[in-house]
Amino acid sequence: MLKNLYLHRYFQFSLKVFYYTKEISRWAKCQDDVFSFVPTMGALHAGHLSLVENARALRKPVLVSIFLNPAQFNNAEDLKKYPQTLAQDLSLLSRTGADAVYLPVTHDLYPEGLAEVVLDLGILDKVFEGLQRPGYFKGVVKVLHRLFSVLNPADVFFGQKDLQQCLVVEKLIAAYFPNIRQHNIPTQRDSQTGLALSSRNLRLSDEGLLKAGYINKALKMAAEMSSTEKAYNMLTNKGIDVEYLERVTLPDLQTADPDSPHKAVVFAGYVEGVRLIDNLLLH
Ligand code: PAF
Repeated sequence: MLKNLYLHRYFQFSLKVFYYTKEISRWAKCQDDVFSFVPTMGALHAGHLSLVENARALRKPVLVSIFLNPAQFNNAEDLKKYPQTLAQDLSLLSRTGADAVYLPVTHDLYPEGLAEVVLDLGILDKVFEGLQRPGYFKGVVKVLHRLFSVLNPADVFFGQKDLQQCLVVEKLIAAYFPNIRQHNIPTQRDSQTGLALSSRNLRLSDEGLLKAGYINKALKMAAEMSSTEKAYNMLTNKGIDVEYLERVTLPDLQTADPDSPHKAVVFAGYVEGVRLIDNLLLH
């Protein structure tokens, strides 16, 4: 009982929680705009916490936002099924040493008449995630442009699991926020299967999690060969419905030129009806 009381107090006093743009921009100003920012959609796992830990390493205050951004879901069912674990998220953030959490209220973050962000994403909006999830990157650009404008952080942190998103954010920052430093943090993986940690994994059964572990093996296999065919077949034999598995060049995600120094293998597919993405950077 005493221990619970203590934890409750610790949680209340160490982590500040904000809801409205006015109050969070006041907090940001109080930090002289020198703070690190980790935007999330909640359902936090060790991958998110590693972003917070990397942010903490800069020794500046760390702000985390949790906002299930409706603008980036083109599928209402997908939005409805997205896991929401706010109480647990706050407790994890408090223990990881975040300083403040921003939980935007939709009508305040997106007031009526908010101007549309003009940003040419080039090929990024037309291939892989851009092609498979129409409007997705427009929604990501909308929320990040608004968050960065309200907050004006010095450093922002993203997970490399969402490789194409990292490339989109690079374009957004280059066009509108040249003073923000972007940090892309390596993917956290399950220590046994190599499965990339993702909020969507919460929707998989134990069997599904084991099956999904083959995605990492397939990426490694594809990385070692000039063709992805064998890896693709391995995944379909395991019952994974592959949407794409390809070797590409960076940063334009074109079909890999073997002489290009920057390459990756990218994957998207379904396990038990849950859409998962992953990638491996090749050096
Ligand atoms: O990667 C995510 O969780 C989201 O796309 C982001 C960057 C928080 C924007 O809603």
